[in-house]
Amino acid sequence: MKSIALLSSGGDSPGMNACIRSVVRTAVNHHLDCWGVYAGYEGLINGDMRKLGSSDVSNIIQRGGTILKSSRSKAFRTKAGRQQAGDNLRAKGIEGLVVIGGDGSFQGAQLLEEEQGIKCVGIPGTIDNDLYGTDFTLGFDTAVNTVVQCVDKIRDTADAHNRLFFVEVMGKDAGFIALRSGISIGAEAILLPETETYVDQLIEKLERGWERHKSSSIIIVAEGDDAGGAYEVASKVRAKFDHYETKVTVLGHLQRGGSPTANDRLLGSTLGHAAVKALKGGVSSEMVGQINGKIVYTPFKKAVKHHQEINWNMMELAELLSL
Ligand code: F6P
Repeated sequence: MKSIALLSSGGDSPGMNACIRSVVRTAVNHHLDCWGVYAGYEGLINGDMRKLGSSDVSNIIQRGGTILKSSRSKAFRTKAGRQQAGDNLRAKGIEGLVVIGGDGSFQGAQLLEEEQGIKCVGIPGTIDNDLYGTDFTLGFDTAVNTVVQCVDKIRDTADAHNRLFFVEVMGKDAGFIALRSGISIGAEAILLPETETYVDQLIEKLERGWERHKSSSIIIVAEGDDAGGAYEVASKVRAKFDHYETKVTVLGHLQRGGSPTANDRLLGSTLGHAAVKALKGGVSSEMVGQINGKIVYTPFKKAVKHHQEINWNMMELAELLSL
């Protein structure tokens, strides 16, 4: 293999740039040409790519977002789109592709490999941390730290006014951000997509806090919670429990941006290096992840079929500490 390409796809996440830097510099180190593809699979179809060298990735390790841009490509879901992508790669002599993204991006990579013979390796990049085959995905640690910084500020004002806050965090299908940040900020309750929300039980808990003269309460709500998100839960609670003044804050895309934490920079650097070595060594159709500090390869088929499970011990801990 003499030439590889690299793209970021789906929702961006902090740490992607550290990973791009690592892929490019590892490729240079292994005497491989490395092409940066712009705007994910859209760029593959439009032939929007250019060769990257070491200096093209200088001064990006600390930046959020992705210098390669990202997209969710509809055209790549069609066979004709993938054929065009394959033709563009072959025209440049590119034999391998590194895809940074989530499970939708890996499904696309799998099809590109099957239909077009381009060897693909995936790197888990999403703030949601819901991918199978790795302890952490790129951007998750930064997103959790962003939530913690924001909610600490909300706690100050909640306490000053004796208010009840419902804070909605990202995670349309998974509660990892909610659970980890919820424990870290001492949330009174954490509502996840993986659990059923019982509003009456939540109100009983708030009543107990009120009786103990709690001055403020923070409920962390994952956006995919079955009760319908923070505004919905807040209005159901407000209707039956009006001791506190109730407010809602939706943190939204704040959680996707910002300078990556040291953990995400390290993860991006480690996985980028491992992905290039894997491609060079003949591995393909696999996602590279890290479990207990070790590099692990998971076939795309398995990575997209399974999901990371919530750690129920952590949920118990959250319950126990919020009494
Ligand atoms: O990156 C995953 C995610 O953060 C989800 O939790 C969220 O629902 C989604 O992205 C929103 O992304 P977008 O606004 O780009 O569609």
